[in-house]
Amino acid sequence: MTVAQDLAAVRERVAAARHLAVLTGAGVSAESGVPTFRDAQTGLWARFRPEELATEAAFRAHPQRVWDWYAFRRERVAEAQPNAGHLALAGFARRHPDRLTLITQNVDGLHQRAGSTGVLALHGQLFENAWLDAPQPCCDLERERVGSPSACAGCGNLRRPAVVWFGEALPLKTLAAAQQAARACDVLLVVGTSGQVYPAAGLAQTAQDAGAHVVVVNTAPTALDAVADVVLRGSAALILPELLSFK
Ligand code: OAD
Repeated sequence: MTVAQDLAAVRERVAAARHLAVLTGAGVSAESGVPTFRDAQTGLWARFRPEELATEAAFRAHPQRVWDWYAFRRERVAEAQPNAGHLALAGFARRHPDRLTLITQNVDGLHQRAGSTGVLALHGQLFENAWLDAPQPCCDLERERVGSPSACAGCGNLRRPAVVWFGEALPLKTLAAAQQAARACDVLLVVGTSGQVYPAAGLAQTAQDAGAHVVVVNTAPTALDAVADVVLRGSAALILPELLSFK
């Protein structure tokens, strides 16, 4: 089938779906100018791989460096705007309440800024902070330090970005809700992810095993193409509005 025929067939499936689940990755924010996770790092950060910065060990060893990297990313994301792909997902959920579960690996908050609610953010939120160690009674004495991670004035506990670092467990309730949605959906759209990181990437097989129609939307081949029933080769910002615009 041609791309147009594939697109029309998937659009029909989405229109008929009692429940649609969508798993997004960094590619859905690419058209907003936010580099994808595996895009080459630029400028000051070119000499580091994300795997060397997004870990608890890196933060404990170099708190200021890791904090600066997240401050750099927060600045870039704050300048970005949700794109047509984000808006198409939010618009569909508004017009068809309770028919879409949005699961994202992204921490940029662009789905939420586009108006999506109840987003299952598997890897946390870039603009939120958490305590590095279990907070003690003294930890409400947070000492803000502009440009550095704030710390507890009582025990020195540091604030860290509330994102899932390599080697850390995902928020269990969020993951369980995402797995339930993958099992219960009629169609799963897997959009803008290289499918290299588990357990998020495993949602495609979970949906496939439960009988869902699995559709990959990506500008390039991915590890999940083999799990998909259909691969729509193209940009999320162009394809999602085509798939989700019906009233
Ligand atoms: P990646 O950078 O691994 O993959 C981005 C994917 O988006 C690639 O497959 C690109 O081909 C695709 N892509 C780029 N532009 C696109 C566009 N306009 N439309 C559609 N697809 C496009 O990012 P993720 O797969 O999201 O986890 O990475 C998953 C996780 O790996 C991240 O959440 C992060 C990292 O470990 C944590 O930080 C815990």
